Amino acid sequence: MAASVNKTLAEQGVTRAEQVAALFLDLRGDFDGEFFDVEDDSHWKSFRDHWLGRKSGVLSQITDNWLKPATLELKRIVGAQLNELRGHIELRIEEKRAAIEAGAEEAAGARDRVDLSLPGVVRPLGSRHLIRQVFQEIEDIFFSIGFSVVEGPEIETPYYNFEALNIPEFHPVRDDMDTFYMELPKGTPGQLLLRTHTSPMQIRTMEKQKPPVRVIVPGRVYRRDNPDATHSFAFHQVEGLAVDTDITFCDFTGTIEYFVKQYFGANVKTRFRPSYFPFTEPSVEFDVSCVFCGGSGTTASGTCGKCKGAGWIELFGAGMVDPAVYGFVGYDPKRVSGFAFGIGIDRLAMLKYGIDDIQAFFQNDVRFLKQFP
Ligand code: FA5
Repeated sequence: MAASVNKTLAEQGVTRAEQVAALFLDLRGDFDGEFFDVEDDSHWKSFRDHWLGRKSGVLSQITDNWLKPATLELKRIVGAQLNELRGHIELRIEEKRAAIEAGAEEAAGARDRVDLSLPGVVRPLGSRHLIRQVFQEIEDIFFSIGFSVVEGPEIETPYYNFEALNIPEFHPVRDDMDTFYMELPKGTPGQLLLRTHTSPMQIRTMEKQKPPVRVIVPGRVYRRDNPDATHSFAFHQVEGLAVDTDITFCDFTGTIEYFVKQYFGANVKTRFRPSYFPFTEPSVEFDVSCVFCGGSGTTASGTCGKCKGAGWIELFGAGMVDPAVYGFVGYDPKRVSGFAFGIGIDRLAMLKYGIDDIQAFFQNDVRFLKQFP
């Protein structure tokens, strides 16, 4: 006898306890049979609703159609059988849910498992920018003759950038160096600017330190120069400063010659030219022979474009520290003397590595950068 849950027991001709037991056995068989086919989450949900759904689930229908209208005599038996079936169904449905969930987790685990046999992702390693490498080379050379390295701010006050270096306001030298001034909030006293050279660190160092002083200062500087093959509005310098009680011009030339020979090799030709800086006296410009034309000023195609036919390239300005500068830092100009220099690093790097355009340093083209690993 197949159990029909939407008919009452009376309609099905069920009047005895054994008949009730047979109906429940039948239903349990249906449940167990269907149970094995349930495999995924959505099937499980519809299966659960079919058996346990509040309104039209099988058990609700048994309650409404078998239990409620049953005779007093059968009610107790139907109730007991129904409870037993409910316990069975709820237990198995819960077991199935846990099994489906565990299976899903296992599948996800298998999906996410790291396959250690696959080749890894090779990330290209960066390298130091050529300017940084040249800074290091220069630091090593000066370090070997007793200089130490200090660094200073790129944003300066006019006092350190100009006045304390003996460049008062309206001095014509400012015209070449006037630079980028900060836009400060209204009411801020004074001005700030991007330093035009590393020389302000001469003042800051001497303010802090008594002689003997022997430092170099690598750093970035800014000028409103129009860009071309040898000019950039941001470039790099290494300042040098040596002050003691008995430093002479010979110490200065000896130090510079040593540095240049160490850096370029013994064959490079060098020359000093008289020059003018308000903070050195006497002042010089230091040139090296042009590596692009071998110092001749001409190439196969005519005048050398790099040195503009001169055969020399200006590398830095230098000189003996002007006694007036000592007045700004509380040194006694009668007791101390010294020299200072400011090397243009970008040009130094261009000469050594045969780079014909300073702009290459700032364009960050990896094809260029990769040539200097
Ligand atoms: C100065 O900046 C002085 N402070 C150097 C100095 C220091 C003199 C200590 C005396 C004592 P000058 O303006 O000449 O000097 O610049 C120094 C070097 O920086 C130049 O020789 C050149 O190699 C480099 N340089 C100047 N302007 C530029 C630019 N726009 N782009 C790239 N390099 C530059």
